[in-house]
Amino acid sequence: MNILLFGPPGAGKGTQSAFLVEDLKMKHISTGDMFRAAIKNQTPLGLEVKNILDQGKLVPDDVTVRMVEEEFQNLGGKSFILDGFPRTIAQAEALDGLLQKKGIKDVKAVFLTVPDSLLIDRLSGRRVCRACGATYHVQAKPPKDGKTCDNCGGTDIYQRPDDSREAIGTRLKVYEENTKPLREYFQKQGRLFEVDGTGEVGEVYQRIKKLLVQ
Ligand code: AP5
Repeated sequence: MNILLFGPPGAGKGTQSAFLVEDLKMKHISTGDMFRAAIKNQTPLGLEVKNILDQGKLVPDDVTVRMVEEEFQNLGGKSFILDGFPRTIAQAEALDGLLQKKGIKDVKAVFLTVPDSLLIDRLSGRRVCRACGATYHVQAKPPKDGKTCDNCGGTDIYQRPDDSREAIGTRLKVYEENTKPLREYFQKQGRLFEVDGTGEVGEVYQRIKKLLVQ
């Protein structure tokens, strides 16, 4: 079973992917993480996309699709979670071609639903460990001692530039216009599964896991 995990910014895609990787040993392919790694390492791709990410806009489809195509070369037969891809109809069509070429049919599109008011709270309160990428929330999930990463002991826990109020507004708008139409796209393909993304993270995970065995 392979999963396309999608939903608005802050729906919990990264948080739930971490459970799936830990529990089911799936390969996590997050286009957001890949762009952030490129920015951190100051690669040509990173320099090209930094401003786009900081503003909360979408990286052009051709750049994003090429990056995912390359990642698909290294799947090695493992089940995967695509987190944050596809995000446009053009990306979804490109992915269909890729899946067909690889003969992969067993794919569920899991759509996490969370109301806007909660999304804004989650995103503005999110903090991330710069060393390992572990995600925290100032109220809902702070590091145990308030400042050191529980996962790796890193001490640089920062706020993503695109978690500013202004960029959050842009991301929600971009989501409505470009990504939300994918619900209908996946529904027509018979692969859409909606999951309530509110409540405790563990509860949300159990809802997702139940779907996977259906
Ligand atoms: P990306 O990193 O994918 O950002 P996003 O979709 O905006 O998603 P987020 O990472 O912000 O949220 P999430 O759903 O993963 O939530 P999380 O689990 O962290 O992309 C970043 C950028 O890269 C894009 O804006 C774009 O520029 C570019 N990009 C990426 N993919 C692209 C593509 N395909 N095409 C073009 N451009 C692309 O949780 C958020 C917070 O909520 C955390 O603090 C967490 O602790 C908390 N939380 C999670 N679940 C719960 C819960 N159940 N209860 C309480 N708190 C919770």
